[in-house]
Amino acid sequence: MTMSRRQALSLLGLGAALVAAPGCSLIPGRAAQPRLLTSTAALPGPFTVPLPIPKVAEPIRPGHYEFEQRETRMEILTGLSTPVWTYGGQFPGPTVRARSGEATTVRVINRLGVPTVLHLHGGHTPPEHDGFPTDLVQPGTARDYRFPLRQRAATLWYHDHRMDRTGLQVWRGLAGFFLVEDAEEAALPLPEGDRDIPLMICDRSFAEDGSMPYPAHPDRMGVLEAYMGGVLGDVILVNGAPWPELKVAGARYRLRLLNASNARVYELSLSNNARIVQIGSDGGLLTAPRPVDKIRLAPSERADVVVDFSGHRPGDHIELRNLAGEGRQAQIMRFTVDRDEPDDSRVPATLSRIERLDPRQAAVTREFRFTSGKTHHGTGWLINGKPFDPNRIDARPRLGDIEIWRISSDVTHPFHLHLVPFQVLSVGGEPVTATPEWKDTVEVRDNQVVEIITRFTGYRGRYVLHCHNLEHEDMVMMATFEVV
Ligand code: C2O
Ligand code: CU
Repeated sequence: MTMSRRQALSLLGLGAALVAAPGCSLIPGRAAQPRLLTSTAALPGPFTVPLPIPKVAEPIRPGHYEFEQRETRMEILTGLSTPVWTYGGQFPGPTVRARSGEATTVRVINRLGVPTVLHLHGGHTPPEHDGFPTDLVQPGTARDYRFPLRQRAATLWYHDHRMDRTGLQVWRGLAGFFLVEDAEEAALPLPEGDRDIPLMICDRSFAEDGSMPYPAHPDRMGVLEAYMGGVLGDVILVNGAPWPELKVAGARYRLRLLNASNARVYELSLSNNARIVQIGSDGGLLTAPRPVDKIRLAPSERADVVVDFSGHRPGDHIELRNLAGEGRQAQIMRFTVDRDEPDDSRVPATLSRIERLDPRQAAVTREFRFTSGKTHHGTGWLINGKPFDPNRIDARPRLGDIEIWRISSDVTHPFHLHLVPFQVLSVGGEPVTATPEWKDTVEVRDNQVVEIITRFTGYRGRYVLHCHNLEHEDMVMMATFEVV
């Protein structure tokens, strides 16, 4: 199937602006945009399967987890068997629930036949445990990743990070939730237990035999050039199930939304006048609840929200929709109220305190230009005109310093920084005046400049920054910084 440029753009919610201002991308028109891979399998109707809740991982002893990476088969589409790459036989992988300040070790045993890398996205992690893209776990070997977790409560996730192959290996299934909890958050009367639900949203496409094909390059980069703008699936999975349904009580729920897609951007909203109250972001709780109509999530962004179903009657359906999608990609999942339940949860007016980083204290301002350009293999995605080179250090922030980074784009790029969260200072020249929040990924939209501020804390060593459109990342849109 071919998609018109208009359709491709509207899938991303970009629309007319980009048509009017194609920017300075070296890649002409449609090739720069994510491209839909169309399923040939018969697809199920919406809301026919129950939402799976990924199992919470059982430690083998306190603070130690063991995940065997192996291929398994799962029935994702009814009647079809899909080969999936998993942590511990599950897709999504087991949910780790860990405590802030308590070191947690994840042992990865690689039985996949290809090298892997584990990265804890949003983790404040020493460099040797952060999953540098060339720091491989070879097939048939094991490795301990140690996470000190000296960081506040937040919805993190872990996923593969192998050099040139992250898009492929995440598409195959290598991703799971990692929830950090702390005393501050536990003291709040937020919904918890089975009313605290992680939702991993990602798109995939299915061949007739049930497999999830990926347009991989046979010998070098992860993805075919034709898909270098990003791979979009036409099936929306939530926790690994297509357009599922969750039966809920007429009560408050905390939903931890994660966009685990390779390249798709969502604008999530609820039908039936149901309200969304955002309470958290990539880096944990906001200072105060924020009522919103919709939530835009680029790849790897998270939003913690509370939805109150108590105004709805048993039998009512509330759909979670994607305003940035069309047709079936505009549907995500459905909540159906089927019971009453006592509910003493609430959303307090004050959630947390966040120090606002002061731009006047910045030691340096750095520029990072995210554009397409020439690589060793043809065209790819560059930062400051350079393809990723693991042996080159692109920035050397000093431990403890505050820095401002100015990130600019040609087409849209979700910028992600390892090691430390940041605050957004300005978007497209407009200062951000809202109360501060901690982010680890920010979408830099077409021809835009986003300024962030961060403080490099914790560990010296070598880390990456990159675009979290995984096809862009594999097509070398990554750079190295070393905290000195
Ligand atoms: Cu979600 Cu460098 O990764
Ligand atoms: Cu990008």
